[in-house]
Amino acid sequence: MTDHPREVEETMATEEPMAAEEPDIAPAADPISLRGATATLGGRPVLRGIDLTVRRGELVALLGANGSGKSTAVRSIVGQVPLSGGELALFGTPRRRFRDWARIGYVPQRTTAASGVPATVREVVSAGRLARRRFGPPRKADRAAVQRALELVGMADRARDPVSALSGGQHQRVLIARALAGEPELLIMDEPMAGVDLASQEILAGTLREQVAAGATVLLVLHELGPLEPLIDRAVVLRDGCVVHDGPPPEAVGQHALPGHDHVHPHAAPDAEPIRTGLLT
Ligand SMILES: Nc1ncnc2c1ncn2[C@@H]1O[C@H](COP(=O)(O)OP(=O)(O)O)[C@@H](O)[C@H]1O
Ligand SMILES: [Mg+2]
Repeated sequence: MTDHPREVEETMATEEPMAAEEPDIAPAADPISLRGATATLGGRPVLRGIDLTVRRGELVALLGANGSGKSTAVRSIVGQVPLSGGELALFGTPRRRFRDWARIGYVPQRTTAASGVPATVREVVSAGRLARRRFGPPRKADRAAVQRALELVGMADRARDPVSALSGGQHQRVLIARALAGEPELLIMDEPMAGVDLASQEILAGTLREQVAAGATVLLVLHELGPLEPLIDRAVVLRDGCVVHDGPPPEAVGQHALPGHDHVHPHAAPDAEPIRTGLLT
């Protein structure tokens, strides 16, 4: 399970002077090191120079209003959106040379599009082992990891059910189990609590607590802190593709100040009020 190819060179890679181009940006091998990241989508700058470091064992929340660039930031980290500028290193390896995707589990933001494929819960979760598997049928370790992940999210008794029969919260738990089945060192989840019932939220919070206790590193995009608040080491808040806060989670100040609760404050003077009150509104 440890023999995935780390340093296989892509045949299409051209000869480039890596040392000169890529300074030592992550000496401590932080799971995520993003520096000055810019990205453009549909001709619009969506990330406008983002710095985001996630250190080993941390649980970091990425917050911000809708459209502030949270999903684009995590999609750039997992290689789904190209950066137009800046630097990204994963576990200390520049993105361009990073091959060890089995170390990363990713749960994308949920879409409402239902797939017509009648996959069972166990099939979906087993897909999370693909990066760990060599060619051939699942081995004992694969099946055990799938079973563990199902139990962690409380879905073991639904393993044979079609995912189409699940509630939104149960479906989300299955997607999280799929990421956990790969036994990732770094778990990235985009709004895992969105549309999830309270019971499922509590189960997810417990699951994340166990992951962190076991040494995992977690980056969570969150719409609101909710039941995860006590777990969060640090919060990074985006606004219009820029980081406007990186530090302790914003104090719970009620629904009014949660990310996504959009307000327009056209005359707000940035230094006229305490920094926290202006961050999320
Ligand atoms: N594929 C895309 N093409 C064009 N614009 C996009 C695309 N994806 C996202 N955007 C735009 O980029 C901005 C940031 O989107 P996103 O990263 O999804 O924000 P968040 O996750 O914080 O809600 C939004 O204005 C959104 O409309
Ligand atoms: Mg998003």
